[in-house]
Amino acid sequence: MRASVLLLSLMNFTGSYKKVKKVMSKYDIKDINLAPSGHMKIRWVRENMPILRELEEKFKNERPFEGIKICLSVHLEAKTAYLCKVLAAGGADMSITGSNVLSTQDDVVAALADSGLKVYAVHGESQEEYARHIEMCLEHKPNIIIDDGCDLVSCLHKKRPDLASEVWGGCEETTTGVIRLKSMANQGVLKFPMVAVNDADCKHLFDNRYGTGQSTWESIMHNTNLIVAGKTVVVVGYGWCSKGIAMRASAMGAQVIVTEINPVKAMEAKMDGYSVMPMREAALLGDFFVTATGCNKTITLEHMLTMKDGAILANAGHFDTEIDMAELKERATSIRESRENITAFVLENGKTVHVLAEGRLVNIAASNGHPAEIMDLSFAVQAISAMYIKDNYKNLPNDVVDVSDKIDDQIARMKLASWGIEIDTLTPEQEEYLKSWDV
Ligand SMILES: NC(=O)c1ccc[n+]([C@@H]2O[C@H](COP(=O)([O-])OP(=O)(O)OC[C@H]3O[C@@H](n4cnc5c(N)ncnc54)[C@H](O)[C@@H]3O)[C@@H](O)[C@H]2O)c1
Repeated sequence: MRASVLLLSLMNFTGSYKKVKKVMSKYDIKDINLAPSGHMKIRWVRENMPILRELEEKFKNERPFEGIKICLSVHLEAKTAYLCKVLAAGGADMSITGSNVLSTQDDVVAALADSGLKVYAVHGESQEEYARHIEMCLEHKPNIIIDDGCDLVSCLHKKRPDLASEVWGGCEETTTGVIRLKSMANQGVLKFPMVAVNDADCKHLFDNRYGTGQSTWESIMHNTNLIVAGKTVVVVGYGWCSKGIAMRASAMGAQVIVTEINPVKAMEAKMDGYSVMPMREAALLGDFFVTATGCNKTITLEHMLTMKDGAILANAGHFDTEIDMAELKERATSIRESRENITAFVLENGKTVHVLAEGRLVNIAASNGHPAEIMDLSFAVQAISAMYIKDNYKNLPNDVVDVSDKIDDQIARMKLASWGIEIDTLTPEQEEYLKSWDV
């Protein structure tokens, strides 16, 4: 049952839109009756996200976002939903959509709608519907944007440039989004400041590495129900995400091969104990292939034709273009479901490759995403960066802005405190020593 509820307000569309009167929906989701299960999931993650809980209390008392419209496009599962509720507790007027057609969890979305938040997303929706939901979100004329992959910002610039003057700025969650934003800034087209949340230490050092490392394998193992120990795993890339994926595969007893295009990263992989070779060689050896690069076509049909019969392919990068799905779909002689979330493609040479989650990011599209304790860090960076935008946007350039070290320090201290861990402090003498050159 499809549910959508109408807001009473009417608005005029201008700009690239035809001048029509349209009713704004309060939500467009699969089924509001799924809310109880979503509320339960959100309660569970809340218990495991101590920094966000602390921020929620603070926001409830101080209401820093009172009357501020925040538009968010992030993978819509329980941790994200809790972030939305924390921002709403601070007075934010939230409009929410997903950032991938397969990562939305319908029960979580129903819980958000049931809590009175404006939300537009349905699991498994078409690309067209996904785009329409982004536009519905933007219709609320945001002051602050929270994006994951830059689809919201890109849509605003392309389809609703009339809204840009109302946007103070925003925060970008992932590596791919930051790359796209930098490209916009370099071309001089970015119309407001965007904080590179991904580049904060409290984000990528933990989320990309440990979060993706654990959740990618959790998803592959759960969906395939196969053993990793003793297998050959080819990890494409050796950035933050792929480092975590390689580390966890190795810890489970796999032989890990890394492919890279960056000589320094390749050297790092070698010294971390992995085999390093080009994909054309690795393709012959792997049982599992996992790509997380932010690049496209890292695994091509040409590679697949040389793989072992039954090789298993997964992507943990942001877009579903790392495995060349388009060519695979076009050239496969037959396609069937091999198991839930796994598709078997029979190639022209008679071999089969199995692709998880249609080549979309496997840990979120076919599982629950990162652990709650990890997203506690990432979303604390988001929430505090949104405050930073609110307080500083008038003085920020229309560019990609780094998260300040102070915010990283603040979040790390909050996390350590939640674990009951204290650390040392420099003595005045040590501070002086570290500043001097004449020792
Ligand atoms: N699945 C998740 O939950 C999750 C979490 C965070 C980031 N991401 C996404 O994962 C991707 C990687 O993020 P990251 O933070 O690890 O990026 P990164 O920049 O740290 O690392 C990417 C690595 O891939 C390498 N690379 C690029 N093209 C390659 C190619 N053709 N062949 C082999 N190696 C190549 C680069 O040299 C680099 O070392 C991005 O799309 C990011 O948005 C996914």
